[in-house]
Amino acid sequence: MTALERLDHTHSGYRSGGARSPGFLSRLRERRAQRDYEASVIAFANALRGEFREACSGLGICHYVQVAAGITIRTPRIGEVRPGPPLRFTVELLPGQEPADFTSKQNGPRLAHTLGGHGLRVEPLAGRWVRLVVLGHDPLADGFGLPALTVASGAEAVILGRTEDGITLGHAVTDPAHLGVQGQNGSGKSAFCYGLLSQLAAAPDVLVAGSDITGLLLGRAWDDTAHRPHQVVGTADIAAHAVLLEDLVAEMDRRLATIPARRDKIEPSMGTPTVLVVLEEFPGLLRAADGLPKPKRGEGVPVGDRIRSAVLRLLSEGRKAAFRVLMLAQRFEATAVGGGYARDQFALRLSFRVPADSLEMLHGTDARRFGQEHANADPGIAYLSGLGRDCERLRVPYLGDYAEYCDRLATHGRPAHR
Ligand SMILES: Nc1ncnc2c1ncn2[C@@H]1O[C@H](COP(=O)(O)OP(=O)(O)OP(=O)(O)O)[C@@H](O)[C@H]1O
Ligand SMILES: [Mg+2]
Repeated sequence: MTALERLDHTHSGYRSGGARSPGFLSRLRERRAQRDYEASVIAFANALRGEFREACSGLGICHYVQVAAGITIRTPRIGEVRPGPPLRFTVELLPGQEPADFTSKQNGPRLAHTLGGHGLRVEPLAGRWVRLVVLGHDPLADGFGLPALTVASGAEAVILGRTEDGITLGHAVTDPAHLGVQGQNGSGKSAFCYGLLSQLAAAPDVLVAGSDITGLLLGRAWDDTAHRPHQVVGTADIAAHAVLLEDLVAEMDRRLATIPARRDKIEPSMGTPTVLVVLEEFPGLLRAADGLPKPKRGEGVPVGDRIRSAVLRLLSEGRKAAFRVLMLAQRFEATAVGGGYARDQFALRLSFRVPADSLEMLHGTDARRFGQEHANADPGIAYLSGLGRDCERLRVPYLGDYAEYCDRLATHGRPAHR
């Protein structure tokens, strides 16, 4: 509204009925509604202060102070309250308290439930002040679809998932990290990788190679793409998996030998792409290889050992040569994935639904508190740690059914002749 229009507006208000005009009455109503609203916010804030105080003393997020009359309880002070949704309020921590005291596994859900929510998020403000946000429902309860996106280069981030604070996490395949993914049957490991690989399939400087005994993640879906010749699938010829992995090691060695002067790593390009070595259901591959008849003494190395040592070399030396490993397993037990040393090489670790001990095994003792709840997680919900991030819960994007994966690869997959 311009100044002139505003003038006109006020003027017409006077003309059409003076003090009893509809304009005057509506302003009166508006002011009363505003007063009522403010009173209700104050009443709400007072009630919240009471409930918060009770909850904090019940949960021991308080100080016990000895005074002449006995013991008195001090709880963190609430500052500004915004009814939301989501309900938010600022809190001044007592000396010695940490923001995480409100959101710990023990206190977080109880405090949230007392305040009528599902969970809590704590945001540090200045000094000892933090903001508590009461989340109305599990922010990861709703899935999110993966649009038909592809990256133009391995240096661009692909979508890994969305965290509880609504942040979308990305990861570039050129980042120096091998990726380990564990999860029970049907927890969403493969579906996550459908999303990941479909985003990478078009990049001219990325090659999706690897071994897949199930033949679903790699294999037929990649026919007619430049990636397919570097993939071995199925269980009919387990030795072929060893041959492929040894070829990849040979290529890695060739690259390591030709690192340009004054450089300590290969820069990926169309000629020397970042090779993503996918190892779908790797423990299954090792089991199948170890089940083969052993060669006689002096007549070669058992296939299982060949696979183990090739993968170990890719894991320990591959980063400099633009090789990245993406390993999937139901459980990242050291013996199942080629040893504890191999397991330690995964800088980025993702756990879909797993029993509590498996979660702790891959993410360390920090993850212990999430174990019980994560043991029943829905497909697509995972914990991620690594690359400077604490263990955090996220939902991975879902591309749709398997046919959609095939369609996206057929449409976007880098063709064989490029
Ligand atoms: N992100 C997701 N959102 C919603 N549903 C999902 C998601 N991921 C997987 N699912 C559902 O869970 C089913 C099992 O997923 P998937 O095949 O990826 O499991 P998996 O961990 O690979 O299991 P397995 O160890 O048996 O291979 C899928 O068919 C799909 O219906
Ligand atoms: Mg699977």
